[in-house]
Amino acid sequence: MQNMLLDSAIERVLVSEEQLAETVNCLAEKINTDYGNEPLVLVVILKGSMVFATDLMKKLSMPLTIDFMQVSSYGSGTVSKGFINIKKDLSTDIAGKNVLIVEDIIDSGNTLHKLKELLRGRNPKSIRICTVLDKPDRRVTEVEVEYSGITIPDEFVVGYGLDYDEYFRNLPYVGILKKSVYQK
Ligand code: IMP
Ligand code: MG
Repeated sequence: MQNMLLDSAIERVLVSEEQLAETVNCLAEKINTDYGNEPLVLVVILKGSMVFATDLMKKLSMPLTIDFMQVSSYGSGTVSKGFINIKKDLSTDIAGKNVLIVEDIIDSGNTLHKLKELLRGRNPKSIRICTVLDKPDRRVTEVEVEYSGITIPDEFVVGYGLDYDEYFRNLPYVGILKKSVYQK
């Protein structure tokens, strides 16, 4: 079996490959309906969103360009909460463009809230967010998410781009890690 070694670190599968594919189709359909033939810039948030973005973009039908950003935000409980650190910025100008931020998961909401604010300051024509996973129980900062895929419980998940310590991004499904992996 292809992912046997990785699979053994997973407690249980939360979202199957099939469910992910269905979700991507559903999100793409909504986005296609909303934008019609309006050109769109996908802003892909590295690294976790690359797998989702790759699947999603193939289902979108408008004229489309992509760009990448890598950001981090300090978690809640720190003085710097809400501060966003840009590790890699966009390489194109988004002024006057329709921007769709593509995210893997929304957790506290801190990163996306700050990022949306920051990009709005660059005067895009419109700016929206699309996420494949959402953990609303963990929300600290309210953020408007126009396209949301699957709501999941408050569990740390990996796969489909999501990592633990940079690993497990290549799992084709979303799963909950075994406790023993953290405790090692
Ligand atoms: P937040 O919404 O600002 O808390 O941050 C969201 C980011 O935290 C995501 O883009 C992920 O990189 C990471 N993250 C949140 N929850 C998980 C998880 O369950 N597994 C892996 N990464 C996660
Ligand atoms: Mg991460």
